[in-house]
Amino acid sequence: MNKNTKKVSKRVSTGIFNLDSIIGKGFKLNSINLVAGGAGSAKTIFAIQFLIEGIIKNKEPGIYITFEEKKEKLYDDMLSFGWDLAKLEKEEKFVFLEYTPEQVKKVLVEGGGTVESLINKIKAKRLVIDSITSFALLYSDELERKEASLALMDLINTWECTALLTSQDESKDGNTISAALEFEVDSIILLYYIRIKGNRVRAIEILKMRGTKHLERTFSFEISNKGLVVHPNKKVIF
Ligand SMILES: Nc1ncnc2c1ncn2[C@@H]1O[C@H](COP(=O)(O)OP(=O)(O)OP(=O)(O)O)[C@@H](O)[C@H]1O
Ligand SMILES: [Mg+2]
Repeated sequence: MNKNTKKVSKRVSTGIFNLDSIIGKGFKLNSINLVAGGAGSAKTIFAIQFLIEGIIKNKEPGIYITFEEKKEKLYDDMLSFGWDLAKLEKEEKFVFLEYTPEQVKKVLVEGGGTVESLINKIKAKRLVIDSITSFALLYSDELERKEASLALMDLINTWECTALLTSQDESKDGNTISAALEFEVDSIILLYYIRIKGNRVRAIEILKMRGTKHLERTFSFEISNKGLVVHPNKKVIF
């Protein structure tokens, strides 16, 4: 059995309520997944919920690499969902790593570095990069950007973690996932926070899920006090 066949058989729970059943029991083990959406579309909550699922339910430590989010604020915000990141960090089940895009560029040149040693230290099985947008902005040349994106993906693959990358996408139809499309990811999930008749509505769409028959609809979701909850029977039309 080659590595790819093995990947197909195992699934990793996303932790988002009611999402796994829509996407064939979760993300593929050790796959790279993209969650794209505009400002405030709940990308960060999605990403942390994915890590929490691994840590709490599956004994899979997680690493969160960010260019944008501030540690104190994030820890504070996530407490409202009952997720105590400071405690998990002390227990060496969670690592928060604030990186500049330049530092990631350096990692690509030098190989794994700090990230790799942290992954090994806590035996991380889940990895988040929130978001890849500013990393992609480092490269103005299209070809160079594509090469850097592929290099980052190759590097992530060597870490044997299930990865989730977030991407800032302001478009309404998901057709301009600017930076993201250069990343040949295994799945793309779009988060919307759109105005319908004067009200803002949250919706989630599975744009792509390699090797999986997924439902081609846009679903409503809400941010509950326990995290994101998808409503599979509530269709959103916009
Ligand atoms: N405890 C909560 N209960 C309900 N809604 C919340 C809660 N915390 C945050 N939100 C909503 O989630 C939004 C932010 O979510 P999040 O930070 O995950 O978005 P994001 O897509 O990462 O945004 P950005 O692009 O700015 O990083 C807030 O604007 C708010 O509307
Ligand atoms: Mg965010």
